[in-house]
Amino acid sequence: MKLTIIGTGYVGLVTGTCFAEVGHHVICVDSDANKVEMLRRGGIPIYEPGLEELVKKNVAAGRLSFTNSTAEGVEKSDVIFIAVPTPPQPDGSVDLSYIERVARDIAGAMTSYKIVVDKSTVPVKTGEKVAETIKRYCKAQVEFDVVSNPEFLREGFAVDDLMKPDRVVVGVRSPRPVAAMKQVYEPFNAPIIVTDINSAELIKHASNSFLALKISYINAVSILCEAAGANVQEVATGMGLDDRIGRRFLNAGIGFGGSCFPKDLSAFIKISEQVGYDFRLLKEVQNINAEQMERFIKKITETLWVLKDKKIAVLGLAFKQNTDDVRSSPAIDLCQRMLKEGATLRVHDPKAMDKARAVLPNVTFVDDMNDVAQGCDAIVVATEWDEFKKLDLERSREALSAPIMFDGRNLFDPQEMEKLGWIYKSIGR
Ligand code: UGA
Repeated sequence: MKLTIIGTGYVGLVTGTCFAEVGHHVICVDSDANKVEMLRRGGIPIYEPGLEELVKKNVAAGRLSFTNSTAEGVEKSDVIFIAVPTPPQPDGSVDLSYIERVARDIAGAMTSYKIVVDKSTVPVKTGEKVAETIKRYCKAQVEFDVVSNPEFLREGFAVDDLMKPDRVVVGVRSPRPVAAMKQVYEPFNAPIIVTDINSAELIKHASNSFLALKISYINAVSILCEAAGANVQEVATGMGLDDRIGRRFLNAGIGFGGSCFPKDLSAFIKISEQVGYDFRLLKEVQNINAEQMERFIKKITETLWVLKDKKIAVLGLAFKQNTDDVRSSPAIDLCQRMLKEGATLRVHDPKAMDKARAVLPNVTFVDDMNDVAQGCDAIVVATEWDEFKKLDLERSREALSAPIMFDGRNLFDPQEMEKLGWIYKSIGR
C-alpha cells in the first residue's frame, strides 16, 4: 500500500520504517529540514535498537522515503497517518496545536478520497475535531475518513513492539476505511479490534494509566515490604504468576518517567475533570510516584547524612533502559536534586549522555561504567540498564571512599552484596 506518516519522532519513524519493512511504500514527512536531510543520508536522530539498520535497508529498497512536503505525502498516498507530538501544557491538558496544524495542511492538499489516521496519543473526542477541521479547510469537495489508531510501542523495544503487536486498535466512524486499515496491518498477524473513534482514543489513555497504576501499586507494596522485612521482588513474582495479574510492570524502583506515563496520566485526569469525574485513583498514582523518589533521596541522606561536598557516582540517566531519552527521567530528577543539595556528580549512561549534557551542565560524564565510582562517597543506580549488572563490583568498591550503593532499580542481590562487603540499600528488600 502507499502510506504517508506525518512526523518522524519515535512513533512516526518507527511506524513508517516497520510499515516499509513489511512491504508497504512509505513516505515520512517532517517539517524539520535538517532531520529529513539526516534521514535521507541514512542517519537517525534517536537511539532505538534495530532501527538504523531497518531504515537503511528500506531506503535502499526504495520503499521508504523522506520529505518536507505534506502536500507530496498527501498526494501520493491513500492512507495518511498523523504522528506529531502532543505535549503537555502547564495545567496537565494536552497541546493539540500540532495535530490541528497537520489536519489543516492535509485538508489543503487533498484532491481525492483519503483516510486520515491519528496515531498520536490524544484526548478522547480529538478525532471528531480533526474531522471537523479537515472538512472546514478542504478546498475541494472530497470525501475522507478519520480513523483513530493508537500506538502502543515502548521506547527501547519499539521495533519489536511494532513488528509483533499484542493488538491493533482501529477506531472508525463508518465501515468504509476498515478494509484498508486491515490491509495495512495484515502482515503483522495481530488481533485487530475495530471500535468507534472515542473508544479507541480512550483505550490508549486507559492502558497507559493502568500500567502506571501497576507500577505505583508495586511501589506502594515495596514500602510495606521494607517495613515488614519482606522482599518486593519475591512478592511481585508470586503475584505475577497469576495470569490475571502478570509479572510485567511490577518492578519496584524510583518511579516511572518518560514522555508518556506522566503526561498521559495528567491528561487522563484532566479529561475526566472536563466530563465531571474526579479520577482520584490516578491522582494517588501520581502521588505514590512522587513519594517514591522522596523516599529514595531520604535513604541516601540518612546514610550519607549531608550531601553537600559529597561526591556521588550515578549509573543511568535515561528514563529507562535501551533508550537515549532523558525526557522526564527520574534519573535526571534525582541528579538535579543531589546537585541542589551541593553534591558533585560523576555520571554514566550507555546511550543517554549526549542528551543529558543539556540538562546536567555541571557534572562529570564518564565513558566507562567501571570508572564512574573513582573518588566517590557512594554509587547510585538510577536506570535499569541490564549491563549495569556486569559492573566490576570489586573495582568500584576499591574506588569508593566507603563501599556504599543505593540501588534504585533493584539490579543486584542484597545478600550477595552484603557478602561482598557492601552497604547496599535497594527498594522494598
Ligand atoms: C509507555 C507504554 O509502555 C507503551 O505501551 C506506550 O505506547 C508508550 O508509553 C506511549 O504512550 O508512547 P514508554 O514510555 O516507552 O512506553 O516506557 P515504559 O517501558 O512503559 O516505561 C515507562 C517508565 O516506567 C520508565 O521510567 C520505567 O523505568 C518505569 N517502569 C516500568 C517501572 O518503574 N517499573 C516497571 O515495572 C516498568
